[in-house]
Amino acid sequence: MPAPAEGARTRRTGSTRRQFLLGGAVAGAGAVAAVGVDLALNRRQETPVTPAAPMNGENTVPFFGVHQAGVDTDAQAHGVFVALDLHGDVDRVALTRLLRILTDDAARLTQGKPALADSEPELSHAPARLTVTFGFGPGLVARASGSGPAWLSPLPAFRVDQLRPEFSDGDLLLQIAGDDPLTVAHATRMLLKDARGFADVRWTQQGFRRAYGTERPGTTMRNLFGQVDGTTNPRPGTDDFDEVVWTTDGWLAGGTGMVVRRIRMDLDKWDRLDRSGRDASVGRTLANGAPLTGTDEFDEPDFEAKTSIGFPVIPQFAHMRRARGDGSERIFRRAYNYDERPTGTQVSDSGLIFVSFQADIERQFTPMQRRLDELDLLNEWTTPIGSAVFAVPPGCAEDGFIGDTLLT
Ligand code: HEM
Repeated sequence: MPAPAEGARTRRTGSTRRQFLLGGAVAGAGAVAAVGVDLALNRRQETPVTPAAPMNGENTVPFFGVHQAGVDTDAQAHGVFVALDLHGDVDRVALTRLLRILTDDAARLTQGKPALADSEPELSHAPARLTVTFGFGPGLVARASGSGPAWLSPLPAFRVDQLRPEFSDGDLLLQIAGDDPLTVAHATRMLLKDARGFADVRWTQQGFRRAYGTERPGTTMRNLFGQVDGTTNPRPGTDDFDEVVWTTDGWLAGGTGMVVRRIRMDLDKWDRLDRSGRDASVGRTLANGAPLTGTDEFDEPDFEAKTSIGFPVIPQFAHMRRARGDGSERIFRRAYNYDERPTGTQVSDSGLIFVSFQADIERQFTPMQRRLDELDLLNEWTTPIGSAVFAVPPGCAEDGFIGDTLLT
């Protein structure tokens, strides 16, 4: 048990220190005085010293590696998504310079160190699991004179879409996520300061999940409809996850495809739906996210089960049934909630920053979104208002930079 061992070590250290302190005194001033001092020292030192638990702010996620961080990283509480448009004169050489600088910034900031010429270095000292993930839009890959992947282009139009340019597309995406909003804000500003000679901000989206420490790590997040959102997801660290998420081809090997869709959720309209209607819209209970045919969140849904009058327990229009299809298309979802300030007669301007990672967007994401476009009861309350697609390049070594497989 750690506590007694700690205590024993403390006591041993105390005794060594005591011998040193009292070596002369015992001989010179007599046993009585020595015993008095000895007792006093013992009293002070017998309180076991337990090492202080590390503060959350001290936690770091490694930056360098085969894959970029921020994909298989347990989602942090705060996420900022910034899409940049490259200036017209940014060629392959300038792009390389930009990515080298931003890689250096990200490598430092994520490890709790100030960026070079950091204007507020103290703000970098609490990384709180900060990650910076880079995504390349079609424009950036063209600027690098690179080619592919074939799916790197805007998604086809869907009937449900009401896309706005201010939340769509972009050349370079920065996903900046961490468990502390001040850290995330600082990192965002440092990165944008270094990027501004090369690119302008096209759009920014800010998302959140539960605050750090509110729930046990690993708890599936809830969205603003109150739904448990993220249950059926490949688990990072498994072969299944690797197969769904990581690309194996060309310069993108070790990277992935990323879809970012801003989906407005009409909470006022949702208010008018009763509890059983809400459960039926997804095919899972709001209480704990269990399928309507089970009791536990992770029970396998029974899509064949029928009610006493012969209807499917998990309705045909249920989001879960429609998203799953025959199970052959899979994606990894890592969404954030958004909640902007309402204006005028609104009481909320809320939704989901839907984020999914998959090796091949055209093969995995698009058929699923098509199916949901055709039929999904959730469409009654949700509207996609932004959409962007990025190739997330692999991670890099300490002497490399993000994008080096494309640019060198
Ligand atoms: C605001 C929009 C959306 C909301 C509120 C929402 C909510 C949910 C909820 C509550 C579940 C059930 C629990 C779970 O397994 O996570 C779910 C499952 C799922 N959703 Fe969504 N979702 C939205 C958009 C999308 C989109 C755009 C896609 C992909 C095109 C998608 C794909 C999936 C998939 C793959 C599942 C798991 C299905 C299965 O069990 O196999 N969702 N979603």
